[in-house]
Amino acid sequence: MPQPSFAVISGAQVHEAVSGREEQVTAMIEAAYRLHGEGRTVNPDSYFLRFPDQPANRIIALPASVGGEVDAHGIKWISSFPGNVANGIPRASAVLILNDTETGYPFACLESSIISAARTAASAALAAARLADARGARPRSVGFFGVGLIARYIHTYLAGNGFEFDELHVHDLSREHAEGFQGYLERTEKGQVTIHENAEDLVRASDLIVFATVAGEPHVTDPAWFAHNPLVLHVSLRDLSPEIILASYNVVDDVEHCMKANTSPHLAEQQVGNRDFVAGTLYDVLEGKTKPPADKPVVFSPFGLGVLDLAVARYVYDQVRGTGDLQEVPGFFHEMKRYG
Ligand SMILES: NC(=O)c1ccc[n+]([C@@H]2O[C@H](COP(=O)([O-])OP(=O)(O)OC[C@H]3O[C@@H](n4cnc5c(N)ncnc54)[C@H](O)[C@@H]3O)[C@@H](O)[C@H]2O)c1
Repeated sequence: MPQPSFAVISGAQVHEAVSGREEQVTAMIEAAYRLHGEGRTVNPDSYFLRFPDQPANRIIALPASVGGEVDAHGIKWISSFPGNVANGIPRASAVLILNDTETGYPFACLESSIISAARTAASAALAAARLADARGARPRSVGFFGVGLIARYIHTYLAGNGFEFDELHVHDLSREHAEGFQGYLERTEKGQVTIHENAEDLVRASDLIVFATVAGEPHVTDPAWFAHNPLVLHVSLRDLSPEIILASYNVVDDVEHCMKANTSPHLAEQQVGNRDFVAGTLYDVLEGKTKPPADKPVVFSPFGLGVLDLAVARYVYDQVRGTGDLQEVPGFFHEMKRYG
C-alpha cells in the first residue's frame, strides 16, 4: 500500500477550479441531491458549537459520505462570526477534510468558504430553475434581501444557469452593503437595479426573492406581501414567520435536517404540530414527484447538506491533482511503523 500523503488546497486553487464553471458545479450538485434522494449518502445531523457569551457566533461541523461515482467522505468545519464583516473580513470561514475510502486516512484539507458558497449558490440556482420551469415561467424580476457573499454567489449561479432579469431589487439593513451590491450588479447586469429601504417594497416588486441575511429569528411576518405568489429562495432559513411558511408551498433539501435549529419551517412545525406543510424535497421536484403551483408562493428552504460540500471538494481535489499543482505536506503522517 502506498504511504498516505496529505495535501493542502488553498482558496486561490479552489477559486481557480470552480469559477466560470457554474453549470458544471450545478450539475454536480444535482447529482449529489440524486444520490442523497436514492439513499446512497450518509449525512448525519450537523453539530452546532455555540458560545454562551457570544450568541451570534457559531462553528458547525458537517460530516458526510457520498457513494456512487463521487466516492467522497469527510467533514466541513465552518465558522460564522457575523461581526467579522464590520472588521473587513468575510463572516464565514471554513476548511474541509477529505478521507480516503480504503484507509480512512485524511488526504486533503481544502479552504472551504468558497466551496460552501458555490454549493449553496448552485443548490439555490438549481432549485430556482427546476421550480420556475415546473411552474411554467422563469422570473424576470429578482430581489436580493440581505446582500453579502452568499447573495453575490447566488446571483453568479443564477446568471450561469441562464436566468436573465429586467429588474433587480436590493434590500439590506446596511446602506453601504446595499450600495456595494448595487455596484456589483451594475457591472454584471443589463437590467435596472433599484435599492429599496423598505423590505415590503422589495418583496412586492420581485418574482424571485433571495433571502441571504444573518437574521436569527423571523422579521418578515405578513403573508400579504407575498400575494403575487413569488418564488422564494429562503437560503438564510430564519427570515420568514410561520404564517408565511404555512401559507406557502414548501420545498426543502432534507426534511429531517430542516426541522431543526429554529429554522422557519421548524418554527412552523412547532406551531402546528405536524409537517404537512412541506410539499416535498428538491429531489422530489427533480423526480417530478411534486409539482409546484403557480397560484401560491413557493418557498425553498435548504438546510445545507454536507454531501454537497463533499461533491464539490472531490471535484476540486481531482482538478488540482490533474493540473499537477497539488501541494503535499512532507512528513505529515510520521509514526507509520508499528513498533518504531
Ligand atoms: N442554507 C445554506 O445552505 C446556507 C449556506 C451558506 C450560507 N447560508 C446563510 O446565508 C446567509 C448569508 O451569508 P453571507 O456570508 O452572505 O453573510 P454576510 O454577513 O456576508 O451578509 C449578510 C447581509 O445581510 C444583511 N442583513 C442582516 N440582517 C438583515 C435583515 N434583517 N434584513 C436585511 N438585511 C440584513 C447584512 O447587513 C449583510 O449585508 C447566512 O445566514 C448564512 O448562514 C446558508
